[in-house]
Amino acid sequence: MLYELVRSALFRLDAETAHDLALAALARLGEGTRRLAGAVPRRPRVVMGIEFPNPVGLAAGLDKNGAAIAGLAALGFGFIEIGTVTPRPQPGNPRPRLFRLPQAEALINRFGFNNRGVDHLVERVRTAGYRGVLGINIGKNKDTPNEHALDDYLACLRKVYAHAGYVTVNISSPNTPGLRDLQYGESLDQLLMALKAEQARLADTHGRYVPLALKIAPDLADADIPVVAAALARAGIDAVIATNTTLDRRAVAGLPHADEAGGLSGAPLVTRSTEVIRRLATALDGRLPIIGVGGILSGADARAKIDAGASLVQLYTGLIYRGPALIREAVDAIG
Ligand SMILES: Cc1cc2nc3c(=O)[nH]c(=O)nc-3n(C[C@H](O)[C@H](O)[C@H](O)COP(=O)(O)O)c2cc1C
Repeated sequence: MLYELVRSALFRLDAETAHDLALAALARLGEGTRRLAGAVPRRPRVVMGIEFPNPVGLAAGLDKNGAAIAGLAALGFGFIEIGTVTPRPQPGNPRPRLFRLPQAEALINRFGFNNRGVDHLVERVRTAGYRGVLGINIGKNKDTPNEHALDDYLACLRKVYAHAGYVTVNISSPNTPGLRDLQYGESLDQLLMALKAEQARLADTHGRYVPLALKIAPDLADADIPVVAAALARAGIDAVIATNTTLDRRAVAGLPHADEAGGLSGAPLVTRSTEVIRRLATALDGRLPIIGVGGILSGADARAKIDAGASLVQLYTGLIYRGPALIREAVDAIG
């Protein structure tokens, strides 16, 4: 009820302005946001060797710089993923770059990894002193060619390692040209092997093993899903996050903003994302866990991802449309 009022005020503003205001409010309120959300029951589970207080997390991209970690966590999430962060700060694409499609409970974004760089993010994490599970999602700068993408991922991994509960390697954003090519064939194998080697070295140095997750796109062809799954298992990647936003516009054809370039998230993504999870689960056969994300707008949507084979879920667009009550609803539905 309260959130409906907040939402109607925010939805009168341009989408990115509303986003910035909401994030600033969350940062300012800090732990005080707990009162907005009400209690979320503990439903602990161990995934990737980490104990999660409940299985519902915040997906990457809402808090790219780690500005509001405490405020977001106090809403009741079992874990928070910040980023995507790149080695150097970059402005992202020109505005406007975030669009609401309210009739479809969807968003289209083409932010293009706007962020203040990995050093800034690490400083934010250090000062936040957050004790819950924190995922840090890493990417490459736009002006780094794909041949050197690995250098960017390694640079980020080294800097965030000591501060992360787990690290997500994002090769599935549609808004960095060529990025998703890294999901295929030799590029994928080489990237995964090099990241695993660096993880082993860092685990040794720091005396702590920090799991590595890979985030994939929903637009992989069905035939490619088992190929990616095999590469992940071969490399010993610790988890797969499925999925990022989609380029597919069939579900929103004809709606205002439907033809904006970028990635579509929210309700129109739910079926494909859950289908990708199901196919991954079949191909992986338990060799590594799946974190399910894409279009969770209700408890039933969250439950469907678990039933399809996910061990944890994340949400972003649902939080915008449904507010923090969705977190508890999802936790309850998963049980
Ligand atoms: C505005 C916006 C920005 C996003 N930025 C990122 C990002 O920086 N890195 C990333 O891995 N995913 C990013 N995502 C994708 C989400 O993490 C998530 O995978 C996707 O939106 C599907 O979930 P949802 O339907 O619950 O939003 C972004 C999504 C939105 C809506």
